[in-house]
Amino acid sequence: MPVITTIEDLRRIYERRVPRMFYDYAESGSWTEQTFRENTSDFEQIRLRQRVAFDMTGRNTASQMIGQNVSMPVALAPVGLTGMQCADGEIKAARAAENFGVPFTLSTMSICSIEDVAENTDKPFWMQVYTLKDSDFMQRLFDRAKAAKCSAAVITVDLQLMGQRHKDLKNGLSAPPKLTAKSVANMMTKVHWGLGMLGTKRRFFGNIVGHAKGVKDASSLSSWTAEAFDQALDWNRIREFRKMWDGPLIIKGILDAEDAKAALNVGADAIIVSNHGGRQLDGALSAIRSLPAIMDAVGDKIEVHLDSGIRSGQDVLKALSLGAKGTYVGRAFVYGLGAQGEQGVTTALEVIHKELDTTMGLCGVRSVADLSRDNLLVPADFEGHWA
Ligand code: GLV
Repeated sequence: MPVITTIEDLRRIYERRVPRMFYDYAESGSWTEQTFRENTSDFEQIRLRQRVAFDMTGRNTASQMIGQNVSMPVALAPVGLTGMQCADGEIKAARAAENFGVPFTLSTMSICSIEDVAENTDKPFWMQVYTLKDSDFMQRLFDRAKAAKCSAAVITVDLQLMGQRHKDLKNGLSAPPKLTAKSVANMMTKVHWGLGMLGTKRRFFGNIVGHAKGVKDASSLSSWTAEAFDQALDWNRIREFRKMWDGPLIIKGILDAEDAKAALNVGADAIIVSNHGGRQLDGALSAIRSLPAIMDAVGDKIEVHLDSGIRSGQDVLKALSLGAKGTYVGRAFVYGLGAQGEQGVTTALEVIHKELDTTMGLCGVRSVADLSRDNLLVPADFEGHWA
């Protein structure tokens, strides 16, 4: 067994083990991938302030996100098609998250359904919901999430229309995968993945097939997906979604201070600064570079979380020091899942936890609540350069 010490180690194993179309799906950004790249490279521009001779004993990464206890403020982000990265992937990732004491967020576009995940886990998870035209279907998603005892709903507002990822089109991405000569040849080399898939019935979009009007199988799904997203979405409609769900509500996909204020006005409990992992508006600012202006606008009125670009505990520490109360990892846990199933997700969380804990110590900080802008060295043009 290789010794795994970084998220990059998991990515390399993942790349070998999972069919190319699902690797490409996770590892792509939209169009030129500028925003996808800057989500990570902008984290590197921020430096940490080394402090010495501070008592670093008794360090603790525990905190809260939307009032729920977490062993570290790092949730698993909603990721579509997770059950194609590894058989029953959403159930495995949810189990790893609950054992680690961090939230798991189930995507609307998951393979395992809400009910599948609820039946196979012990603690409540969070449910992500897209803004779809069909209000009845939206209400049913919220009702199903409630019946499954989900402890928060996450409404994603940055996908009214999908950013193009070239590789997905070229690969003919679908779930279950389209059987072309090329995709079959590639899948035949992924023995472990294939055996897992043969052993599960969960190979379709479990929240949608058999639930959305007219979607009875995978072939009717692609036309549904093209039509389902609401390009006419506005904040009044988001207010209606707020009324459909009486639990904690998180709005995901905010990158602009004006939109952050609007999210506050519809009664969200938290917002997630996110550009969808660089998969939507290519050319948009990275999430970490967008965070300071949003903190200035609403940081004292609503809980702010950050998603997009986090690959290490150092990244988590930087986001928290700029004011985020929580962070999310998407690709970082998917690498672990594709590499080693549930154990791989646990390993990804352990890697990030160790990095966060050690980095806190070397910054002279014992608790995540004590992290602040003082722990960082931020380039002068990082925040104010973009007029
Ligand atoms: C869907 O959310 C995607 O980014 O593919």
